[in-house]
Amino acid sequence: MSSVIIYSSATGNTKKVAYEILKTMPEDTKIYDLQEFQGDVIEENLILGYWVDRAKPNKEMLHFMETLSDKKVITFGTLGAYPDSEHGETTKKNVTEILEKHNTVLGNFLCQGKINPRITEMFKQASTDSPHQMTEERLKRHQEAALHPNEEDFEAARAFINGILEI
Ligand SMILES: Cc1cc2nc3c(=O)[nH]c(=O)nc-3n(C[C@H](O)[C@H](O)[C@H](O)COP(=O)(O)O)c2cc1C
Repeated sequence: MSSVIIYSSATGNTKKVAYEILKTMPEDTKIYDLQEFQGDVIEENLILGYWVDRAKPNKEMLHFMETLSDKKVITFGTLGAYPDSEHGETTKKNVTEILEKHNTVLGNFLCQGKINPRITEMFKQASTDSPHQMTEERLKRHQEAALHPNEEDFEAARAFINGILEI
C-alpha cells in the first residue's frame, strides 16, 4: 500500500518527526513539506504532521485538512503541552473532528516539541493577571518540552504508525 507523509513545521520539530517516521516506511513512501506540496494525494495512506496552535493543527495544515476527502489519514503532531494532558486530548479530538467530516482517521499521535524561546519570553513578560503569566509549573513544562522530540518520541511515532499500517 502506498503512503505519503505531508508535514508542516515552523521551527523544525514536526519535520524531524516526519523524517524519523520515514525511516521505517516502505521505500516508495513520499514525503513533502506542505509548503511544497502541489496536486492531489493519490497514495492510499496519508500521514499528516502538524504543530499545535491553540489545541488545533497550525493554520496552514488545518486549511489543507479541510480540502481533503475520502482519504485514510494518520496524523502526528508536536506540542508544548504534555501529550497525555487534557489539552493533548482536546487537540486530538479537534483534529479528528476536522478530518472525519470527509475522511477516515486511522489514528492520532502526539509528542512534545521544544517551544520557541520567544514564546517562553512572552509568558515571562505577561502581567500577573494574564492567563499567560509564567508559573513554576508552566516553566517546568517549557523546560521539559525543550528536550523533545527525542529518540523515545521518534520510536513511539514509528511504532504507532507501523502498528496501524501493519508494516
Ligand atoms: C504561535 C504558537 C502557538 C502555540 N500554541 C500551542 C498550543 O496551543 N498548545 C501547545 O501545546 N503548544 C503550542 N505551541 C508550541 C508548539 O506547538 C510546539 O513548540 C511545536 O513543537 C512546534 O513545532 P514545529 O517546530 O514543527 O514548528 C505554540 C507555538 C507557537 C509558536
